[in-house]
Amino acid sequence: MEGFAGKVAVVTGAGSGIGQALAIELAKSGASVAISDVDTEGLAATEERIKAIGAPVKADRLDVTEREAFELYADAVVEHFGKVNQIYNNAGIAYVGDVEVTPYKDIERVMDVDFWGVVNGTKSFLPHLIASGDGHVVNVSSLFGIFSVPGQAAYNSAKFAVRGFTEALRQEMQAAGHPVKVTTIHPGGIKTAIMRNSTAAEGVDREGLTKTFDTRLTRTTPEQAAKIILDGVRKNRARVLVGADAKVLDVIVRLTGSGYQSLFLTVVKRLVPNAH
Ligand SMILES: NC(=O)c1ccc[n+]([C@@H]2O[C@H](COP(=O)([O-])OP(=O)(O)OC[C@H]3O[C@@H](n4cnc5c(N)ncnc54)[C@H](O)[C@@H]3O)[C@@H](O)[C@H]2O)c1
Repeated sequence: MEGFAGKVAVVTGAGSGIGQALAIELAKSGASVAISDVDTEGLAATEERIKAIGAPVKADRLDVTEREAFELYADAVVEHFGKVNQIYNNAGIAYVGDVEVTPYKDIERVMDVDFWGVVNGTKSFLPHLIASGDGHVVNVSSLFGIFSVPGQAAYNSAKFAVRGFTEALRQEMQAAGHPVKVTTIHPGGIKTAIMRNSTAAEGVDREGLTKTFDTRLTRTTPEQAAKIILDGVRKNRARVLVGADAKVLDVIVRLTGSGYQSLFLTVVKRLVPNAH
């Protein structure tokens, strides 16, 4: 897949899953890539694969919750490559637990990584993206940024917030006449380590949940997801739904309005009885 020749793309959370696949696909498409993660081992593996493709790559440990570090990182990327065209705010974590039994700190942690990480990345890079004359902000929300399910209040909050933030930003860039496109990504179930890496409230059967996630809730591979996302970026889509599950469930939500809540509760209870 060509199409990003000469572009400089930044991918957070590039040490695993969707972020790793995105970084590799971008490299194959001709982009120079700045990759980061807190998982330096996973990051090194991604770096190796990009080097094997022959694309220019800069790899750094970066925690997306650390705002100052993010701003310094943005400057360093521009200094290294001379410009930056795209940022994929992809890093994220999952958490499972009902509101009633979830400590504040766990909700805050999910908001810190999944929402504030996206805000930090967007704001740190926005001036550089505008200056590039051809910028694109790509923020990863979720299907859970379109509807809520029990046990996911923290994650739902962060992903709905990413959607609100990103949809406003797209309109702002257009209104201001800035050369920056903006896309929100809503993946359905993607076969990654996210559930295995997740944390949960006390009493949640995380192992059982991970098994259900891996075997019944995920159909799309990270590689397929990356191709769908980059296709949407090329076409400057406002919203990219990733996977057949995402497309079908989005339609159900739009058709039923708030009625989806009772419908989905029945399904969730059957599929993941120990989720909450
Ligand atoms: N897998 C799915 O089914 C799915 C569905 C919808 C949305 N998403 C979203 O896609 C994105 C990528 O997730 P994935 O499925 O590839 O998961 P993953 O666990 O395979 O990869 C996430 C990466 O983010 C990194 N990360 C976590 N916290 C970080 C931090 N504070 N700073 C920097 N890096 C950090 C992890 O180390 C990991 O390498 C996330 O935002 C996730 O919420 C995933």
